[in-house]
Amino acid sequence: MPKTPPSPPDGDAPVVTGPRPPRTVAVVLAAGLGTRMKSRLPKVLHPLLGRPMLAYVLDAAREATGERPLVVYSPATEQVREVFADEADFALQEEPRGTGDAVRAALAALPPDVEEIVVLSGDVPRVPAAYVREVAERRRDTAAVMCLTMMEDWSVDGYGRVVIGHDGMVERIIEQRDATPDERTIRDINLGLYAFDVAWLRAALPRLTFSKLTGEVYLTRLVEIGRGDGRGVVAWELLDDSEHDGGLLTGINDREELADTENRMRNDIVDAYMRAGVSLHHPHDIYIEPTVELAADVEIWPHVVLRGNTRIGSGSVIRSNSEIVDSVIGERCEIWASVLESAVVEDDVRVGPFSHLRPGAHIGPGVEIGNFAEVKKARLGARTKQHHFSYIGDAEVGSDVNIGAGTITANFDGTAKHVTRIGDGAFIGSDTILRAPVTVGEGAYTGAGSVVTRDVPPGKMAIGIPARIRERRPKPEPSTGTDTD
Ligand code: UD1
Ligand code: CA
Repeated sequence: MPKTPPSPPDGDAPVVTGPRPPRTVAVVLAAGLGTRMKSRLPKVLHPLLGRPMLAYVLDAAREATGERPLVVYSPATEQVREVFADEADFALQEEPRGTGDAVRAALAALPPDVEEIVVLSGDVPRVPAAYVREVAERRRDTAAVMCLTMMEDWSVDGYGRVVIGHDGMVERIIEQRDATPDERTIRDINLGLYAFDVAWLRAALPRLTFSKLTGEVYLTRLVEIGRGDGRGVVAWELLDDSEHDGGLLTGINDREELADTENRMRNDIVDAYMRAGVSLHHPHDIYIEPTVELAADVEIWPHVVLRGNTRIGSGSVIRSNSEIVDSVIGERCEIWASVLESAVVEDDVRVGPFSHLRPGAHIGPGVEIGNFAEVKKARLGARTKQHHFSYIGDAEVGSDVNIGAGTITANFDGTAKHVTRIGDGAFIGSDTILRAPVTVGEGAYTGAGSVVTRDVPPGKMAIGIPARIRERRPKPEPSTGTDTD
């Protein structure tokens, strides 16, 4: 069932004097199946740079109107309602019988005091908020009941053709499917972004009939009804240039168009970063989602993927084949061919090549990690070194610790996870297994190949399987650690 729309102010509301600004709500059509996507997922939920296509349309709708958008969905696109439950109101179109029928469903759910709607398509994600405002303004300025957006284009395939009358008003829109070969040569196309006077629309919509050819109810047939009523229908013509780029209203129908649109959006992002002082090597091979924030003087090499709420500080270098998700990286870091997920990395850290920071990894300043190191839910203190194939999980590691090659925190006993603590300045010898829960004290030392099952007091040494505690020799044996160069 569609959500009950918010009710208008009741009789107790303060009396407003003077002209009210008209209340405009955006109706977003998203009930169509999108069969050409060949997908189980409704078309408008397919992601573009990490966000569902529809999210971008809702952003523009909200920004242009200042109101919660009203989304038309159908049983086939029920998932749309679940995903955007907090961000929009919804109207159910029982069956996708055409765009006219979809707007009919929207009107039934529209609060009665709304005077104007703008209609957007859920599959046109690059629509700018400014265009939505403009189409509404043009309608009001001309006192027309309907304003549509059109463009002159050679590649007219799939679009409704717009017929302009001698009076300069719109006379008719002919759907491609219904057009004669002659009519198909018309190059003015309907881009599917509209503004309507709601009072007129409420009277006009019931008069729409099914197309004899396709059995659909076309929203575009409203043009003739408006004209028949002696009311104006106008067109806002977009130019195919950078100022009014009609390309921004290109819809997505299949996976090729999905990829193409994503690539255009990605290009816009990398271009903006270069203007903002970020160095990108071969920028067309760098993927950056719109939720990412990069400081000036970040440097990025090809084949880097930056996703989600990732932030990277000034002077940091991200080298090829790194994927960084929801992570915060400080200044002057170097990340090389590594994967970071929900990790925090402080300043002057080196990671990789070939390391994996998993959720909850918090890496202190000046730390060095990798090759082949994994850190999960663990803090590493300042200047600690974890080189060469090792796993640190569920751990608190102090500063200036040396973690030798092959070190493993055995954090899982088969039922529960346990914590390993390593104090400042400790030296963990190669191939040490730390069986948690266990604490290695400050300045303590573990011998190569030891299996530490009991706490090692500060300054002591653990050696053997299971490790026995000994006094620490003045200096670590040269052969037990791994170099930190
Ligand atoms: C429509 C226009 C066409 C225009 C083109 C621009 C009509 C009849 N034709 O054609 O003139 O050039 O857009 O892109 O309007 N939808 C519903 N319920 C339905 C049918 C569609 O919600 O019953 C939604 C779709 O999910 C989509 C939007 O409406 O978001 C447009 O529908 P679509 O079938 O793609 O229309 P077009 O054939 O492209
Ligand atoms: Ca379409």
